[in-house]
Amino acid sequence: MRHPALEHGSVAVITGGASGIGLAAAKTLAGRGMKICLADTAGGALTAAGAAVAEIADDGANDVLAMAADVSDPSAMHALRDAVLERFGSVALLMNNAVTRIGGPTSASLEDWRRAMEVNFWGVFHGVQVFLPVLHAQKSPSIIVNAGSKQGITNPPGNAAYNMTKAALKSFTESLQHELRGTADCRVTASTGPKPGCRSKSWTSW
Ligand SMILES: NC(=O)c1ccc[n+]([C@@H]2O[C@H](COP(=O)([O-])OP(=O)(O)OC[C@H]3O[C@@H](n4cnc5c(N)ncnc54)[C@H](O)[C@@H]3O)[C@@H](O)[C@H]2O)c1
Repeated sequence: MRHPALEHGSVAVITGGASGIGLAAAKTLAGRGMKICLADTAGGALTAAGAAVAEIADDGANDVLAMAADVSDPSAMHALRDAVLERFGSVALLMNNAVTRIGGPTSASLEDWRRAMEVNFWGVFHGVQVFLPVLHAQKSPSIIVNAGSKQGITNPPGNAAYNMTKAALKSFTESLQHELRGTADCRVTASTGPKPGCRSKSWTSW
């Protein structure tokens, strides 16, 4: 069953939306008549992604905002929130999806471990902290999707830093779920994927 926030005309904010799963989700949701904000690092990929989503959106480029925003920078996330509200007036879906593959084994540098956490965990934290008050104030259904990974549960060998960031994200999101469920009249839900127990390949099926 589709989440009630994902309605024709509602607004999705997707970090890391210039490629991969984020872009695929943006295209799917634009195809259903949602307005889309793509946030990613500055560059040609973001511009191209914005144009590709605009081709699908009901009202073309009017329904798409492609904005450079480094999720690891809280001030950039505040600017993103302000731009989305100015352009579209509301947010129904926040998809904290941006990821860096910087990291490595436990012996990787402190700098690489910190960067992995800055983007993959703190980027999600910033997104939630900046957008959640907006979602609460709207009183309409909304959803936060913090892109999880089974690697945050199974810890396969290869990239210990990535695994840890996804484990932290899982814990944070589950705590958020508990808090939202315990909040009176709350219309906000949170998840590590669009469907309970979904696999990564299902992410764009919504
Ligand atoms: N691909 C998979 O099989 C898979 C499986 C499980 C979970 N996931 C999760 O799904 C999400 C998307 O994965 P993907 O494979 O599509 O990734 P991807 O690498 O294709 O896309 C990630 C996007 O994030 C952007 N990004 C990187 N650093 C950023 C920053 N600081 N600020 C803003 N944007 C930034 C990149 O430019 C890129 O466009 C990730 O959170 C990932 O952990 C992916």
